[in-house]
Amino acid sequence: MTSPLIDLIGKTALVTGAASGIGLETAMVFHRLGARLVLSDINIEGLRALAGSFGPDTILLKHDVSRDEDWDAVYSQVHARFGALHVLVNNAGVMIAKPFEQAGIDILRRQLSINVDSVYLGMQGALPLMRAAIASGARSTSIVNISSIYGKVGGAQFAAYSATKGAVRALSKAVATELASKKIRVNCVMPGPIATNLGADWDPPRDADGNLVDPQAALAAWAALIPVGRLGAAADIAPLVAYLASDAADFITGSEFIADGGYTAA
Ligand SMILES: NC(=O)c1ccc[n+]([C@@H]2O[C@H](COP(=O)([O-])OP(=O)(O)OC[C@H]3O[C@@H](n4cnc5c(N)ncnc54)[C@H](O)[C@@H]3O)[C@@H](O)[C@H]2O)c1
Repeated sequence: MTSPLIDLIGKTALVTGAASGIGLETAMVFHRLGARLVLSDINIEGLRALAGSFGPDTILLKHDVSRDEDWDAVYSQVHARFGALHVLVNNAGVMIAKPFEQAGIDILRRQLSINVDSVYLGMQGALPLMRAAIASGARSTSIVNISSIYGKVGGAQFAAYSATKGAVRALSKAVATELASKKIRVNCVMPGPIATNLGADWDPPRDADGNLVDPQAALAAWAALIPVGRLGAAADIAPLVAYLASDAADFITGSEFIADGGYTAA
């Protein structure tokens, strides 16, 4: 039997927003590839309900990624339990869609704190633990930040969300450049429309005039715009994240990977 092209054996990985969607699927793939997992989410009940899907060594933590004191607590636990961190996936995020004229500054500030402060705090706090991983012989360590195609192209009602996801791209490249020589890699994944719970707890979809539209019809219309003819699934994104987390991607840093069924190529 040949050995698999990629594995995460011997690596400790923290995935934020792991109770749902892309974070959950990433955690499942990481588990299959042999990683030791630290999974966090603001929705700790949702995370605990999934505990049986992971190994007994998996740590599940309540974590609001916009709060620096929560990051301190998470990294204290990683340090106490494992002493090092090889992989960080900054995945937790929110998307609030609103016509620009109705989207007050609070809409921008809320998304900045969850989508951008999180990435800044998460990367900064990870560094001592990643240096410890390198000192213990790891070939490299990897940070994967989940941006979005809306950090690259515009989308109606996504002004504030787009601003946060563009910031994630720029932040990732700057830190990647600074840390490449320290064997700390930083890359960005930019998914297109993926069927998850994202945005479900916010306003139902509206048209450009602010009128309610049927959510299923809105999704079908969106899918029709994607060249492959369907919305993405979390399983379309997780293997890409796993590849970037693995030593197979040792030469890859400061890069961006679009996974959108051809949406932004058309
Ligand atoms: N679904 C898409 O179409 C899509 C497209 C591009 C990018 N993304 C990005 O992918 C990431 C994951 O989103 P998803 O689609 O899986 O959505 P999701 O809503 O299914 O999952 C997001 C998870 O993040 C958690 N979360 C929210 N706020 C948090 C906070 N303050 N602290 C910690 N956890 C928090 C939620 O509880 C949830 O478990 C997000 O960064 C999102 O912007 C999603």
